[in-house]
Amino acid sequence: MNTSPHHITRREFTKSTLLAGAALASGAFAASGADGATRRIRTGVIGCGSVSNAYLPVLTKSPYVEVVSLCDIKPERARKQAEKFKVAHHYPHVDAMLAGEPFDFLVVLTDMQEHEKINRRGLEAGKHVWSEKPIANSLSAGQKLLQMALKKNLRLWGAPITVQSPQFAFMAKQLAAGKLGRVAAAHSDYGHEGPNWSAFFYEKGGGSMPDLAVYNLTSLTGLLGPARSVSAMLSIVTPERTVSDKGRIKVTEEDNAMVLLDHGKGVISHTQSGFNYFNPHGHDGAKETRHTISIVGSDGFMGLVGYDWAPLGVDLATTGSPKLDRHVTDAQGYIWQQGAALAAECLVTGKELLATPEQALHVLEIITAARESSATGRRVKLASTFKWPVVS
Ligand SMILES: NC(=O)c1ccc[n+]([C@@H]2O[C@H](COP(=O)([O-])OP(=O)(O)OC[C@H]3O[C@@H](n4cnc5c(N)ncnc54)[C@H](O)[C@@H]3O)[C@@H](O)[C@H]2O)c1
Repeated sequence: MNTSPHHITRREFTKSTLLAGAALASGAFAASGADGATRRIRTGVIGCGSVSNAYLPVLTKSPYVEVVSLCDIKPERARKQAEKFKVAHHYPHVDAMLAGEPFDFLVVLTDMQEHEKINRRGLEAGKHVWSEKPIANSLSAGQKLLQMALKKNLRLWGAPITVQSPQFAFMAKQLAAGKLGRVAAAHSDYGHEGPNWSAFFYEKGGGSMPDLAVYNLTSLTGLLGPARSVSAMLSIVTPERTVSDKGRIKVTEEDNAMVLLDHGKGVISHTQSGFNYFNPHGHDGAKETRHTISIVGSDGFMGLVGYDWAPLGVDLATTGSPKLDRHVTDAQGYIWQQGAALAAECLVTGKELLATPEQALHVLEIITAARESSATGRRVKLASTFKWPVVS
């Protein structure tokens, strides 16, 4: 059981949500300027590696965003992306970025281990923050960040946004309507042969859980409810690897993970992730057509077609209609890399995201608890929660 004094109680959670609502109602986020034009949030992006190639095209096209500066400790990367995406300013360090061209919204796309520190720097400097996963390195540190954001009337969000997809909404609605009868069990999996460009994926604070399982854990807790306890087995299958930035490295965080969650009322889910999975679709598994999430109950089965970050549909069979039927094959505008743009839209218009920092923190706690469970051989209770159901 996590007894940290920093974990947010349900009461504080309600208070924080009300505070955010009050800020929106007071017009703190006026949608348009004096000239009536849509307001654009001045945005700085830190981390100009692989994922910036997915984020920057979306951010620079968003009507709610003006990307004013980029930053990377590899200055050449910031310079190249600034040139490619026509961003006026670029910096080699977070301090220089924060002291440079003014902006209001920080998008953090660095190595996983750096997020917590940079998110804190951003909030301290009065910026709203969107963080790639994980939002922090531990639940207690993440909760402190969220409390700081609330105190300063700032917003903090973390990837992933799988709960925003129409397929997620469809699945949540089938469950709420009782289409599967008494829900019993769920399985999810995500793996590939592992990134070959950066060592941080394999170093302490990296691993397949915060990089890959995080999507499935977000989807399953979003569908079945916050988890109460975790049992896990983790291992390192490939102890050494070769990566572009550091050459031959030792793998010191899990590259193979099996996580069992108790969602209460007898519902149990299983999530597996790893960096040693044959995957004919490579790192970009967008063409995957298997069921990567399946949920079964006394009256039905539901399978998500493709990955939850790029879903292609939902197959459903029930006692009333036992042949698998495919639903929601249209993404309806959802793409996994739009999270920061949706956050900017929220800052401008007040339209809230379904993805919340409280859920991101819950998933982070699951990951750290899975490590504890694997190391000790014990089941670990969870302390955090989030507003559920996500879709009503
Ligand atoms: N690559 C993807 O397809 C992908 C997809 C979804 C999410 N993500 C997530 O995005 C994040 C980044 O992954 P990536 O694949 O882009 O890694 P990457 O190694 O390609 O890029 C990370 C960049 O951050 C920079 N950086 C590191 N520390 C910094 C600091 N303190 N200040 C400024 N810059 C710093 C590095 O120099 C590097 O250019 C990770 O959290 C990852 O899990 C990646």
